[in-house]
Amino acid sequence: MKKTNRFRTVLIGCFLLIAVGALVLTSRSHAQEPRAIYMDVTKPIDARVEDLLSRMSQEEKLALVHADSKFTSAAIPRLGLPRRWLSDGPHGVREDVGPDNWLPAGRTDDFSSFMPALIGLASSWNPDLATAYGKVIGEEARQRGKQIMLGPGMNIMRTPLNGRNFEYPGEDPFLTSRIVVNYIRAVQAEDVSSCAKHFAANDQEFERGTINVEMDERTLREIYLRPFEAAVKEANVRTVMSAYNKFRGSWCSENDYLQNKILKEEWGFKGLVMSDWGGVHSTRGPVLNGLDLEMGTEKPTYGEFFMADAFRDGLKSGEFAQSLLDDKARRNLRQIIETKAIEGRAPGFLNTKDHQAAARKIAEESFVLLKNDNNALPLDPKQVKSVAVIGENAIALQAYGGGSARIKAFYEITPLEGILRKMGDRANVSFSMGYSEKQEDELANQAVQAAKQADVVIYVGGLNHRRYYDAEGFDRKDMKLPYKQDELLSRLVEANPKTIVVMFGGAPFEMESWLQKVPALMQAWYPGMEGGNALANVLFGEANPSGKLACTFPKRLEDSPAHAMGNYPGKDGVVRYEEGLLVGYRWFDTKNIEPLFPFGYGLSYTRFEYSNLHVNQAQDGVMTAEFEVKNVGARAGGEVAQLYVQDLKPRLARPTKELKGFKKVFLKAGESQTVSIPLDRRSFAFYDPERKAWASEKGTFKILVGSSSREIKLQADAKLAQSVYDK
Ligand code: GLC
Repeated sequence: MKKTNRFRTVLIGCFLLIAVGALVLTSRSHAQEPRAIYMDVTKPIDARVEDLLSRMSQEEKLALVHADSKFTSAAIPRLGLPRRWLSDGPHGVREDVGPDNWLPAGRTDDFSSFMPALIGLASSWNPDLATAYGKVIGEEARQRGKQIMLGPGMNIMRTPLNGRNFEYPGEDPFLTSRIVVNYIRAVQAEDVSSCAKHFAANDQEFERGTINVEMDERTLREIYLRPFEAAVKEANVRTVMSAYNKFRGSWCSENDYLQNKILKEEWGFKGLVMSDWGGVHSTRGPVLNGLDLEMGTEKPTYGEFFMADAFRDGLKSGEFAQSLLDDKARRNLRQIIETKAIEGRAPGFLNTKDHQAAARKIAEESFVLLKNDNNALPLDPKQVKSVAVIGENAIALQAYGGGSARIKAFYEITPLEGILRKMGDRANVSFSMGYSEKQEDELANQAVQAAKQADVVIYVGGLNHRRYYDAEGFDRKDMKLPYKQDELLSRLVEANPKTIVVMFGGAPFEMESWLQKVPALMQAWYPGMEGGNALANVLFGEANPSGKLACTFPKRLEDSPAHAMGNYPGKDGVVRYEEGLLVGYRWFDTKNIEPLFPFGYGLSYTRFEYSNLHVNQAQDGVMTAEFEVKNVGARAGGEVAQLYVQDLKPRLARPTKELKGFKKVFLKAGESQTVSIPLDRRSFAFYDPERKAWASEKGTFKILVGSSSREIKLQADAKLAQSVYDK
């Protein structure tokens, strides 16, 4: 027995010696073996991408180009690549769903901050707030473990009826570009990828999954692609989402002209193009025409996705060149490496005091004061002894509505709550529903009674995220306010002339039946989780409204270009943008149609004056317009000075004016500031379809400076001495 034990001890000892020796050898070899380039954060991104690509098997490359759940693509553990998470949306990090359906995942840790709608952010005309907004999105996405945030949306408000107008920054490509560029830069500074969507011309929800959009090349370039071009060239956006619709006859997700020719070749986009969810319809088209990531296809298994097994088969059969898969994989790897998937990211933050402060500030600056007769606003919190708050939107929660932009919010301060917090201890605040989807008459009668008994009425109405109002997948049927609000408002203001009207909603609505009767009207859009506090601050004078309309409010729908020409919602599956460049104010100003409220319009509790415009002409066509803005009122406030360019003798037809610059200034009472707005060649250029270039042609232009597109305060001439064509 003893011998055996001794032998066993010797044997174990030998084994241990060998094991330790092997360990020493491998660790030394590891120490000697250089770190793989793709793992070395000091190496250039391209080198890391190529190194990683060179190490990947075909199956690993294929795993990058299609989903493996509703909002993920597969991990590649062998190479240290974690599962990649995508998440909606533009207004905050959506709750988790699935994994293989749209049902909530039932988590308790997927609450997020609920930010104001993008139409509201745009109405602040404050690119610094777009930066603050993006920072919130990026920090929360990181905390929630998301690598790609599916926003900002940047489609153009072509019709007031688009159900997703609330998600987009309005009707003008220049304002939209300034907002989305800062938003994207800020998100991506947080090691999160942004997503420019929906590329392109998804400007209505009606038949969005099948409709074919037709428009001329100048309209495409100067209006509908312009924000995407800015997102790529100025913000280096890492992902683009192709739209559901067709463009010039082919699905956007397999549109060679949009995705390969313009986005990747002409603009030099090096990121990835993903489909919208369910927006892929075949294998060959997307594979050949620039799709890099297939998401949301309704198939029983992920292998049946169009860019999965079928793609593999096509590579094997030789139908598809290997370079096609390699390019797609390369673009995905770039996005993965740029968001530090390998070395890992710092922890993020959720719903911090800074996030809440940003949400409140953005909401305050998003409100547009459209009417304020005899300084009805701001209300004096010392004078007001009773307030009747009326309207469903005073208590409605908006966060969890609207479609893919919905948020499971930590909290949402409603208008009523905001008013109660500010006034509850010094005034009698009552609430009446006023309207709802049913019982309007009874609710209206109660509201009228409440109005009679109060010093002041604060009405909070407008639209909501119910189907056929501001909701994805559906357009509105008209511009009318729902639930008999027009009738109610007339009755309320008769019962109490001091009826302040606050409207929620993502787009214009008809209001002529009561507008002249009410003393004050403010557009609040969807102001997010701090909306009620922001609203109370503005209504009771703690904050001075400084928002300006990011869209024209027409008097009637048929005045709107897409409707005036009968080009909405299209016919037999085709929608033709025959109004061309004349979208929004471009139409109203060129056709001389009086809007109800013009693009860029918004009042303040103070007043501003403009003077001394002069344009410093530089030789290379770069100029600076300088002028004075003075606060001539009794309180501090913000003003958005806008600069429009008018081509006096255009070679090709052009809108009578186009927004090419703006600056938001904050001035104390009596203070004035010199505002300087730079102009470059693109400020004067139109797209020349013959030359396939941006043409800034010699000639004389008018520089128009004002407080809205129709309140031009100053003008000056500007000359371009030569013509330049930028390919
Ligand atoms: C939706 C939307 C898109 C969203 C995606 C994922 O259909 O069109 O904006 O990001 O699917 O929810």
